[in-house]
Amino acid sequence: MEIKRVCIVGTGVMGNGIVQVCAQAGYDTSVVDVSDDLLQRGLGNIKKSLSKFVEKGKLTQEQMNESVGRIKPTTNMKEGAKEADFVIEAVFERDDVKRDIFRQLDEICPSHTILASNTSTIPISLLGSATKRPEKVIGTHFMNPVPLMRGVEIIKALATSEETLNISLDFIHSLGKETAVVKDSPGFVTNRIMPLFLNEAAKLYEENLATVEDMDKIVRLSFNWPMGPFQLLDLIGIDTIVDVLEAVYIETGWERYKPVPVLKRMKEVGWTGRKTSKGFYDYTR
Ligand SMILES: NC(=O)c1ccc[n+]([C@@H]2O[C@H](COP(=O)([O-])OP(=O)(O)OC[C@H]3O[C@@H](n4cnc5c(N)ncnc54)[C@H](O)[C@@H]3O)[C@@H](O)[C@H]2O)c1
Repeated sequence: MEIKRVCIVGTGVMGNGIVQVCAQAGYDTSVVDVSDDLLQRGLGNIKKSLSKFVEKGKLTQEQMNESVGRIKPTTNMKEGAKEADFVIEAVFERDDVKRDIFRQLDEICPSHTILASNTSTIPISLLGSATKRPEKVIGTHFMNPVPLMRGVEIIKALATSEETLNISLDFIHSLGKETAVVKDSPGFVTNRIMPLFLNEAAKLYEENLATVEDMDKIVRLSFNWPMGPFQLLDLIGIDTIVDVLEAVYIETGWERYKPVPVLKRMKEVGWTGRKTSKGFYDYTR
């Protein structure tokens, strides 16, 4: 099956990045969100990100314009998805919201369309069960920031067919990404490892062990990582990390995945990191 048109549902932190790499790879890319404001903000962020590639000489202005020209924003799911060969859902980490979207997509999309989710933790089988095509449902777990991170976890659920897996692998490789195939288990591989580290960092913050800046600095310098845990928490979104930890905890009962209180409180007041301009750091200035 040749993939020409893709549709991304959700233009948040991850949706924007996925839209960008699909458009850059030459796909007609529609993007669906719930309001024009969100779509315009998303498009603005994508242009900002593409401009950085132009400034660094990794993309020409013409290539940037062509990429932007391939992006079709809409608030109408039917309009966005009705001709798509491959759909990637990237909305909030809530299974009821995602299941509803999969049910709608199943009704709207042609029978050959593959329905993928960027979920961090929600079982792909559960999303597949909201459709009449579970064999065409798969997980494509991109990493943040999508345009820079090369790895994508591919989650093959019990019912996902080999054909769907192979088409999906080819498609993700065509975006310049590398893949690892993972079983449909809570948190997959990346979200069994990274959130534990971030939860522990938040525990150290509660213990007032050192300043946020110093904890980030010592991790960056000691492990040669590009950012420390608090910078990463703000980049990923504190709400997303809490959701991921809770999802693995609920599914497994393992105490070590219980989010520490400070993360839950920050989520409750909306201090979720860069996307709200406030997290462990202040981004308003
Ligand atoms: N943030 C990360 O670092 C990261 C990394 C890997 C995977 N993920 C996963 O990617 C998914 C998206 O996360 P995010 O951080 O981009 O979230 P986000 O909160 O930044 O964006 C979610 C977007 O979905 C939109 N949305 C909600 N309901 C919708 C609907 N019914 N139709 C259309 N759009 C709708 C929202 O308006 C919002 O723009 C989640 O499943 C998350 O677990 C996140």
